[in-house]
Amino acid sequence: MFGLTIIEVWFLFILLWLTVCFLSFGVTGIYFLFMRRTAKRPWKILVDRQYAPRISIIIPTKNESQIIRQKLLNIDRIEYPKDKIQLIVVDSKSNDNTLTIVERFAEQHPYLNLLTLSLDQEGKSKALNFALRNSIGDVIIISDADCFWSQKIMQEALPYLSDPSVGAVSGPKILMNPNSTWVTKTENAYLVSMNTTKLGESKLGFTTLFEGGFSAYKRAMLPSFDPYGTGSDDCGSLIKLAENGHKAVFLPEAAFFTAFPTSWKGKMQIKIRRANQLVLVFSTYLNLLLRGKVRVPKGTLILNTFIYLVSPLAFALFVPLTMLILVSHPYLMVLVLLFIIPRIGPLLFEVIQSYSVLLVGLSSAFLGKKFITWSQPADRIILTESLLRQNNLI
Ligand code: GDD
Ligand code: MN
Repeated sequence: MFGLTIIEVWFLFILLWLTVCFLSFGVTGIYFLFMRRTAKRPWKILVDRQYAPRISIIIPTKNESQIIRQKLLNIDRIEYPKDKIQLIVVDSKSNDNTLTIVERFAEQHPYLNLLTLSLDQEGKSKALNFALRNSIGDVIIISDADCFWSQKIMQEALPYLSDPSVGAVSGPKILMNPNSTWVTKTENAYLVSMNTTKLGESKLGFTTLFEGGFSAYKRAMLPSFDPYGTGSDDCGSLIKLAENGHKAVFLPEAAFFTAFPTSWKGKMQIKIRRANQLVLVFSTYLNLLLRGKVRVPKGTLILNTFIYLVSPLAFALFVPLTMLILVSHPYLMVLVLLFIIPRIGPLLFEVIQSYSVLLVGLSSAFLGKKFITWSQPADRIILTESLLRQNNLI
């Protein structure tokens, strides 16, 4: 072919395969190992343990009647001066009795400064922005209805915001059902390694990934939620902080607890929506980076942008090339055994799955699709009062 010998064709083919491997798995792997080391560095943040600002806790709800009471009971228990807490439930068009439950809860707990807001428009960020306009706290904290906090979360998390350079903090998602099914097991492996990466990035001053279970922002540094319309209320809201040079950090001690769907279908519902949002988030970062508009450490941002936008494309090439290799050299199928190595297997599986999901996210974002309408995962697990009590969460 083109005057090349068979050996030369194979050589070029293997070279291409190795390049594609490096661009998809290699970059991510090396970045992870580097961040794991960085995670061990000390914080370069002033931590004033006496710092106790006025806070507004915002809970967005859309048909959360099965969980909202447990959520409010959980918040009622946190150790923080009641007169410094404003609690806002902001609901969009629930057609169950979420609002009735919240109002009854407010009557039964008159000492809580609980404000109920209701919007007749869809969209979580829209709801959060409405709540933001009605909030009085110096720190704004978002928490999804199905996420639960330990009593000491404020003492653990807020002191980090006392440093003037820090704009936002968040914490890890801890699954309450990590061993239910292979779906929750692989998700758990993924979460644990992502947490290491987020901590490493935070030690350098900025992580791009926050989650809805616990995200706390200094009001003065948060003009609005998701100003670029990425669909992500958490990661999308950090972009402005990056532009303004404010730190966003992940704190292992500010954990929140939640259950994860046990079926693959339920997981995909969450992941595909999230992937679509992250593709838009990193396209925005790419745009800002190219225009020199980012004022936080650029290395981690560039690599993240690469991992979310380029690596999935390399992975799309990796699959057919690997198939070709396996067809011509079937004995290489033994590599499948990699998947049964205890710690590596689930993670490898999860990386492959993540790239596939990101490819779906890339295509849907490319086609202009946005996931605004929230639907609960098919098999969402409802954490009951008795289970939460057993876990000392209410
Ligand atoms: N007011 C309002 N309006 N609230 C909404 C809307 C809306 O249009 N859409 C979603 N919510 C609320 C939900 O009721 C829930 O409290 C929270 O926002 C979760 O929505 P998303 O943040 O869009 O879900 P997700 O897929 O990214 O989050 C997944 O992980 C979270 C934990 O990290 C889900 O499993 C969540 O249930 C989970 O809390
Ligand atoms: Mn979310």
